Amino acid sequence: MTEQEFIPPSYTKTIENGKVSWESPSNIALVKYWGKKADQIPENPSISFTLNDCKTITMLKFSKKNDELFSFDVFLDGEKQNAFKPKIETFFKRIEVYLPFLKSFHFTIETKNTFPHSSGIASSASGMSALALCLMSVEKQLLPDMDEAYFNKKASFLARLGSGSACRSIEGDLVVWGKHNDIEGSSDLFGFKYPYKVHENFKNFQDTILLVDKGQKQVSSTVGHNLMYNHPFALQRFKQAHTNLGKLMPILETGDLKAFTDLVESEALTLHAMMMTSMPYFILMKPNTLEIINKIWAFGNETGLPVCFTLDAGANVHVLYPESVTEQVLEFVKNELVVYCENRQYICDKIGFGAKQL
Ligand code: PMV
Repeated sequence: MTEQEFIPPSYTKTIENGKVSWESPSNIALVKYWGKKADQIPENPSISFTLNDCKTITMLKFSKKNDELFSFDVFLDGEKQNAFKPKIETFFKRIEVYLPFLKSFHFTIETKNTFPHSSGIASSASGMSALALCLMSVEKQLLPDMDEAYFNKKASFLARLGSGSACRSIEGDLVVWGKHNDIEGSSDLFGFKYPYKVHENFKNFQDTILLVDKGQKQVSSTVGHNLMYNHPFALQRFKQAHTNLGKLMPILETGDLKAFTDLVESEALTLHAMMMTSMPYFILMKPNTLEIINKIWAFGNETGLPVCFTLDAGANVHVLYPESVTEQVLEFVKNELVVYCENRQYICDKIGFGAKQL
């Protein structure tokens, strides 16, 4: 598919006003996306678990207007957020060619997250995917014949233009984004459900998110992605991500949890190694991130239980493990890891199945 296929034909219906609502989850990458080309095209393919409980709920109200300007208001938890407007205006400009109705309506965007705003959990994936889905629901009213597969694909395509990893939040439970030679149908333009066999071990996989640092990140992911231009290890890294995704496929099929741990932890540390070797260099992990990693390794060695960690672009630690060991791992989290969390806070999440219309 090319970008052209997301430019709609003339709309067959007209509408005056209405409202639509979606909830859309966050996701956590196993093979990481870090580095992009123009137009939010990833430098390498990535794959993520869709989460279940960390999500954004967005209601979009729309009413017909006559001028040729973007017009919208944004509310977070009922409070007007003018600070969000530039990001959304940029998003609207980028997607206008694919959603030509955007200037025909005034929009009110009312949004809330199920996770604390200052948790250090990025809301851009869930937030941008929820908004993209709401906009697609408006387009569906203008083009009622649109089928579900195209709806999801275009929602992911639009979400990507808002925030790259947001394109992996539309469906579940495992989503690939970025062209990979061994994954038929994979595309740089949108995320799609991993199409091959996945072992029972990964059904209902758990993700306990340890909130190590709830503050604002010192370096945004936009800046981090840009630092991959002229990065001394960039090409090697992009190649490695292709190789790692290829290696993950048989692991997902056979349920080899030891190999899963090795690959996922290496991906997390490689992501942070890229940050530490950028110019300028930066570190998003905190001392407690490392304390937790060491405790997880010691726990795994002592008990032989399959538990591993991953990181996104921040200090928080995602503890990943199969449902069968939930009791032991949560006991370990409570006894040994919460002391490293800000205000002893953590979130119990698990693999989910994608966004829902409300
Ligand atoms: O979607 P962005 O631009 O916020 O980038 C997210 C990048 C990572 O979370 C670090 C990795 C990933 O693949 O999600």
